[in-house]
Amino acid sequence: MTAPLPIKTVATKPFADQRPGTSGLRKKTRMFQQPHYLANFVQSIFASLEGFEGKALVLGGDGRFFNREAIQIILKMAAAAGFGEIIVGRGGILSTPAASAVIRHEQAFGGIVLSASHNPGGPDADFGIKYNISNGGPAPEKITEAIFAHSKVIESYRTLEGPDVNIDEIGHSWLVGTKVRVIDPVAIYRDLMASLFDFDAIKKLFASGFTMKFDAMSAVTGPYAKAILEGDLGAAPGSVLNGEPLPDFGHHHPDPNLVHARHLYDLAMSDAAPDMCAASDGDGDRNLVIGRGQFVTPSDSLAIIAANAHLAPGYRQGIAGVARSMPTSRAADRVAAKLGVGMYETPTGWKFFGNLLDAGKVTVCGEESAGAGSNHVREKDGLWAILMWLNILAARQQSVKEIVRAHWAEFGRHYYSRHDYEEVATEGANALVAGLRAKLTSLPGQSFGALKVEAADDFAYHDPIDGSMSKQQGVRVLFADGSRIVYRLSGTGTSGATLRVYIERFEPDPARHDLETQAALADLIALAEQLAGINQHTGRDKPSVIT
Ligand code: G6P
Ligand code: ZN
Repeated sequence: MTAPLPIKTVATKPFADQRPGTSGLRKKTRMFQQPHYLANFVQSIFASLEGFEGKALVLGGDGRFFNREAIQIILKMAAAAGFGEIIVGRGGILSTPAASAVIRHEQAFGGIVLSASHNPGGPDADFGIKYNISNGGPAPEKITEAIFAHSKVIESYRTLEGPDVNIDEIGHSWLVGTKVRVIDPVAIYRDLMASLFDFDAIKKLFASGFTMKFDAMSAVTGPYAKAILEGDLGAAPGSVLNGEPLPDFGHHHPDPNLVHARHLYDLAMSDAAPDMCAASDGDGDRNLVIGRGQFVTPSDSLAIIAANAHLAPGYRQGIAGVARSMPTSRAADRVAAKLGVGMYETPTGWKFFGNLLDAGKVTVCGEESAGAGSNHVREKDGLWAILMWLNILAARQQSVKEIVRAHWAEFGRHYYSRHDYEEVATEGANALVAGLRAKLTSLPGQSFGALKVEAADDFAYHDPIDGSMSKQQGVRVLFADGSRIVYRLSGTGTSGATLRVYIERFEPDPARHDLETQAALADLIALAEQLAGINQHTGRDKPSVIT
């Protein structure tokens, strides 16, 4: 052990804007680079926790610009706060699901993950930080609100004087009485995947000529995908694209959607299509799956995973239940009903699944925002979803397209699309939502062409496990034919407001499963504008992103 470093108390003043959103505190990188900004938030996290002295904290991030500097600030503050051990991914790298896996595997007190997820990285882009609790999942609102409350009154924080810690070599060192252990960021996660999926069957699939392109988008999943897909499973070298994590993500926008991963969609629809195209986001928790000639919507992916999970060894005993966020299509509900298992509808945000998973009520969860996962960790997990698909393909010996088509034929198809109006003025967005809320009681019973409103509400969630209540989670307009329009404001943006409009129509007839999605939803799309006055409130005559 080296000589103790002096602990110092630094005087600071509160920043008014440190309220964590859907997934931690996310801001422009330059905000975080202001003196004391990150330290204030970290001290507010520690001030909101009890009983961590002598216990372990997991620390890592997606490698974006400012990741390394932030790791050093947090290492010193966590040591000054009295953690017994800090477990940090080599180079400061841990994907979000890997961080969750490490927290659980090491029975740590909690963890800090540095990421702004799918937002771009760099000095002019975004940075973020979130705290995860001992089950490996995002902190519940009780803690995030305590963090915010403390951030508004903070007067000082504690840290250590001294040189930076070497985080680039596996091994350990000491900061005062705190052990800093640098671990391989991939190993624990990789073993977990091998325990859940039939690696031998997937190996055979690749050996038989199955082809795949996985785009890591120069973000955190590169090392994980190379080790597992190309290493353990024998995917051809070069199957992983953009596999080196870069601080600016190589100027990719690491959001695996149909805008930023358009090249994969185009490839999957071309004559040169591999059997599967896939991608993940900046911090590795989202997924995109496209088969040859067949895009899989995240909502359909959840339903298909729920219906087929028993084909993977880790889920052979069947699933206990399914959970989805409210705006996610109701395709999974039909699977849960057929399996006779529980179905839970939660607000947007993975944190709402934690209690249900801990209580054993559900095994798989998913969100329309390209997230799927299970009880193996307490975050959504991009590579997990892709490995689950590979396992299903290997077990069923069918293509992605055949599996999707068969699913629709059995359960019906939920045509589904999300229209985003990004970076609109906050005032206009709030006025739009207020206008909708004012209409809620008068809408039921009204007809608009063939569409008759059956019910309308502002979604509220009563957590069946801890009894907490989350109100105003999105305006829902439900129609008699099973169609639905949902409006909500994003909780993850970093400037202005983002309005999301979710449009869904159920089609039981297989003869009508081949329509183009926007065309199949055209009357609902027009009605969404008519009901909310989107153009009037936002000044936009069309969405900035359609997924
Ligand atoms: C993050 C969260 C998800 C959430 C998504 C969209 O990825 O982890 O749980 O669904 O953001 O959130 P938003 O509030 O922007 O719609
Ligand atoms: Zn993410």
